[in-house]
Amino acid sequence: PASPNRPLYEFHTQTAELYHHLLVNTAAGQGALKYLLDRGMTRELIDQFQLGFAPAVADQEVLVNFAKEQGLEYDTLRSTGLFRLDQDGQLHDRFVDRVMYPIKNERGQVIAFSGRLLQAKGNEQAPKYLNSPETPIFNKRFVLFNLDEAKKAARQTGQLTLMEGFMDVISAYGAGLKTGIASMGTSFTSEQIQIIQRLTSQLVICYDGDSAGQNAIRRALQLLRSTAPDLSLQVVQMPAGLDPDEYVQANGGAAFVRYYEQHQVDPVAFELAYLRQGLNLNNQSELLSYLEAALQVIAQLQQPMAQGVYLNQLASEFNLDLGTLQAQLQQIKPVVT
Ligand code: CTP
Ligand code: MN
Ligand code: MN
Ligand code: MN
Ligand code: MN
Repeated sequence: PASPNRPLYEFHTQTAELYHHLLVNTAAGQGALKYLLDRGMTRELIDQFQLGFAPAVADQEVLVNFAKEQGLEYDTLRSTGLFRLDQDGQLHDRFVDRVMYPIKNERGQVIAFSGRLLQAKGNEQAPKYLNSPETPIFNKRFVLFNLDEAKKAARQTGQLTLMEGFMDVISAYGAGLKTGIASMGTSFTSEQIQIIQRLTSQLVICYDGDSAGQNAIRRALQLLRSTAPDLSLQVVQMPAGLDPDEYVQANGGAAFVRYYEQHQVDPVAFELAYLRQGLNLNNQSELLSYLEAALQVIAQLQQPMAQGVYLNQLASEFNLDLGTLQAQLQQIKPVVT
């Protein structure tokens, strides 16, 4: 029996083809194509991810016209999320003058789009990225960009790589790191974690190297610990001010993959590095407050052995008495026997 959502999937597939065609084969797409090539996208990547362009409205709206040719019902078109309604209930293209990123489900079917402005406009009304709204086939809490490809790569490498943005995933893919996935613009959800947990036992978080990225890593780690305590976690801290895409543009794909492989640390090491940022540990009081915060982090560890490893590290790094550190740790969290 045909699923009632079938026309929605079909319309999304055709729309992705249309936007891609407009980008790569038409005069209307020339500016957008130049934009993508200028920011380091190759034709291979543009084809692989089926990037596209939704042109500016002149006297005709490309998707409205295409829908008319297809003869689809008004209600079907409305539920695709690809149109906005005016006051008279008329449908208009939702995406106008944007570079288009098709978003696929785990089976590789196009279920939504995200559209990026070619340049940030002065008005804050127009967000840099505009996503499809929730529809019968797009529930963004459950969707991870590039999951259909990344899960195949994860079978080879044993891990998935969580990134912030579409461009990061695409550039990493071009560099040969094909395990990248990204949550859908909003925050990382427990539903997405359940999906990840089903596909891999190891997740590497590789967010942007700015303070927003660092804070997002900490939030993601918290949610991951409570939702999937058995998932093994690693963190790659990107250099200050660079996201993975920018790193690839600046240093090349091979350098990015090397950086990625050589800078994986476990969540505790990440937390400790985070806590000591900007502190002068030669200053007694700053050192003491760092040690207190560090012990709080170590106290949260489940395994006594892991606690021991980090206590030893602190003791040797700052030339402290291990027994004293242990006693201090007991005060934070009494030993359960
Ligand atoms: N995002 C969004 N809406 C915005 C800004 C960001 O949905 N107004 C989402 C997008 O999925 C984006 C991700 O958050 O990919 C990460 O945001 P950001 O780091 O600002 O975007 P980049 O991917 O770095 O975008 P670009 O390189 O294209 O500027
Ligand atoms: Mn193509
Ligand atoms: Mn960011
Ligand atoms: Mn970014
Ligand atoms: Mn970026």
